[in-house]
Amino acid sequence: MTLVLGLESSCDETAAAVVDHTGRVLSNVIASQHDLHAEYGGVVPEIASRAHVERISPVVEQALQQAGVTGTNIDAVAVGHRPGLVGSLVVAVSGAKALAWAWGVPIVGVDHVHAHLAVASLSVPGNDAAAVAYPSIGLVVSGGHTSLYSVESPLVMHRLGATIDDAAGEAFDKAAVMLGLGFPGGPAIDRAARQGQVAADALPLPKVGADAPLSFSFSGLKTALLYAVRGQPRRVDGKVTFERDFGDMPEQQRNDLAATFEHVVVHTLIDRMTRALHVMRDNGQRVEHAILGGGVTANTFLRQRADQWADEHELQLHLPSMDLCVDNAAMIAGLAHHQLAAGQVDDLSLAAHATGSV
Ligand code: KG4
Ligand code: ZN
Repeated sequence: MTLVLGLESSCDETAAAVVDHTGRVLSNVIASQHDLHAEYGGVVPEIASRAHVERISPVVEQALQQAGVTGTNIDAVAVGHRPGLVGSLVVAVSGAKALAWAWGVPIVGVDHVHAHLAVASLSVPGNDAAAVAYPSIGLVVSGGHTSLYSVESPLVMHRLGATIDDAAGEAFDKAAVMLGLGFPGGPAIDRAARQGQVAADALPLPKVGADAPLSFSFSGLKTALLYAVRGQPRRVDGKVTFERDFGDMPEQQRNDLAATFEHVVVHTLIDRMTRALHVMRDNGQRVEHAILGGGVTANTFLRQRADQWADEHELQLHLPSMDLCVDNAAMIAGLAHHQLAAGQVDDLSLAAHATGSV
């Protein structure tokens, strides 16, 4: 048996996990920092990196303990080293180097976005992963990314389209601030939307240029929501003010806007996946599986719609279990097993990068 310890600290989750060569997750420890960033309505990079430094050692210890192993049982240390906040990434990268050096094992640098799609082949207790057939269509929807892939194998992914402005999760987070629903916004919008009614015409469907039909854009939708909540902006004494604040809007109306916003985002995601599927099938690719990953895949409505969509298009759908949707280190260790098998290992010069591989 080969065991990989994975580390992850690219944004506001400090995580460590132990995964074996079959994709079985022996432990998956995630320390989230949501409480530290809530009052700012978004992740503050300086606060995030300091918190990672405090948490990384206890998180690693817990992950080893829960897996019932010690450092001597670990065959490689994997780390998400791109993309992300550099000040955050360097914490797990430095930790991984120290452990790999101390234990005399290889270090494997993993692309965080690609790793979100590697969850499809992980087994967690009570949830055995079904085998993935390639090529599959992949969608990563998270706080930092909204990207569509033609997934040729766990190691070969061709990006077909991505957001040209905000990521879907970022849009959820900003929308929640506008509606006064708190941080992180995705789960808050999800809860509010369950109490609301979709008003089809209240918000526009995002449009993208005919030259980039597989791309996404959420910034116009965000602005439309801002105006729907606060009215038209006016300039008074050189300052921009609005007609009203979210507190002036009855709760039911805010829930309805949350439901409508969620509906538009999910509709857009499903629409682009459909277009991408047609492109792949028209190119002669036999696509029978779809893999979704990233924090936004925790969304109740997206999970329902993705299920229906997969049925309509005769696809086997791989949706992560809830604890593998958000940032975690099991996905990092999972992808690292494939890299190790292909001889892709790094050395102690491994660097952190803000941008990812495409
Ligand atoms: O994958 P992730 O943990 O971090 C990044 O790699 O960015 O994704 C975090 C994002 C946040 O924007 C959060 O609001 C969103 O995932 N999210 C959700 C839900 N749960 C988390 N968005 C919609 N509905 C949810 N239930
Ligand atoms: Zn992520």
